[in-house]
Amino acid sequence: MVANAQTPVIECRGLTKVFKDFWLRPRVTAVDGLDLVIEPHQVFGLLGPNGSGKSTTIKMILGLLFPTKGRIAIFGKLPTDVETKARIGYLPEESYLYRFLNARETLDFYGRIFNLPRSERNKRIDMLLEMVGLEGVQRRPVGEYSKGMQRRIGLAQALINDPDLLILDEPTTGLDPLGTRQIKDLILHLKQRGKTVLLCSHLLADVEDVCDRVTVLYGGRIRALGTIEELLSVSDSTQIETERLEPALVAKVRELIEKEHRKVHKVEAPRRKLEALFLEIVQKALSEGAATSGAKTGGAVAEFLAAGAAPAPADEGRQVIAGLVEAAKPAPPPEVSKPEPAAPAADARVLDALTAPKPEAKPASEEKPSPPKAVDRSVIDDLLKKDDPS
Ligand SMILES: Nc1ncnc2c1ncn2[C@@H]1O[C@H](COP(=O)(O)OP(=O)(O)O)[C@@H](O)[C@H]1O
Ligand SMILES: [Mg+2]
Repeated sequence: MVANAQTPVIECRGLTKVFKDFWLRPRVTAVDGLDLVIEPHQVFGLLGPNGSGKSTTIKMILGLLFPTKGRIAIFGKLPTDVETKARIGYLPEESYLYRFLNARETLDFYGRIFNLPRSERNKRIDMLLEMVGLEGVQRRPVGEYSKGMQRRIGLAQALINDPDLLILDEPTTGLDPLGTRQIKDLILHLKQRGKTVLLCSHLLADVEDVCDRVTVLYGGRIRALGTIEELLSVSDSTQIETERLEPALVAKVRELIEKEHRKVHKVEAPRRKLEALFLEIVQKALSEGAATSGAKTGGAVAEFLAAGAAPAPADEGRQVIAGLVEAAKPAPPPEVSKPEPAAPAADARVLDALTAPKPEAKPASEEKPSPPKAVDRSVIDDLLKKDDPS
């Protein structure tokens, strides 16, 4: 099969995995006749409760486990194909980190596996460490990192080869809401850049926020498959959101609707999400320069991840995952309940705001505060210029 733009990134047919016991008797059917097609540039969510076969499916896709039955093609090739493997980034469920290597050495190690020349490795490592907010703790052995910090370094590791297909197994486990929001923003950014993402999670909100298509597994079988829109839209009711209405006007509207013999189910002031509140609090602490020994917010999306990929509007290209939160910005009162944006474009202004130099903000960081540095756009522009062949 020749790989071309139409070739699905991942295609599984009748994929089955039966784990055998010591005497080779079938013990667990972890994945059971799975048919899955993931097209290029999609963010695909693999959902399901613990033990439903998500990680087993991923390991077979990666060629780490052999299927008992069925076929898999990745970019039209076998999962064991070496060239194919070089195009995949993988964040495993459990971090496989060498405890005694520090963050820099860890990324360097993986950069060498992909035969990246030293200068390219160093450039990518700097960008990735900044992106995941670990540049201030990069000399500490990763064995000392908190779980969330290990997730962050794991994510940087998965991106070092600038993969076309990124496979994330429970990426937000152990991450604070800030890190979670960043991963979600990063996923949207990568999609914009033409990458394909397979995201596996039992955290429903994460999947809902970023995935184009999802499937729900149970007992290794597909229970539901479709776009978020198809799966979640409620076809038998209509929601209208307006600025705040005074009770008299609400009564009028209600009357109008009831006159048409329709039922009004509920009238309420929408609530903002807890995530928005949390991010606003952290944002405030950051701007006050409050101290922390943990991971920093994280910075601009590493520019090399964008290289050669699908064109994106110039400005959005420089998004920052630290971007978090349109909601973290003080919003005018009627806006407070604004639903979360489904599209990446909405991030741009926040990202811009965050990339702008903030003279008054002290680095809210760890043991050795470093001078405020390099998160601003001019540095990235410089790097870009150097790389730009034109
Ligand atoms: N190496 C293994 N040996 C035996 N059983 C396994 C192995 N890996 C996974 N399983 C079993 O397969 C099922 C699916 O596991 P897994 O794919 O890890 O689920 P999920 O990632 O959805 O939580 C579970 O019942 C699990 O116990
Ligand atoms: Mg799992």
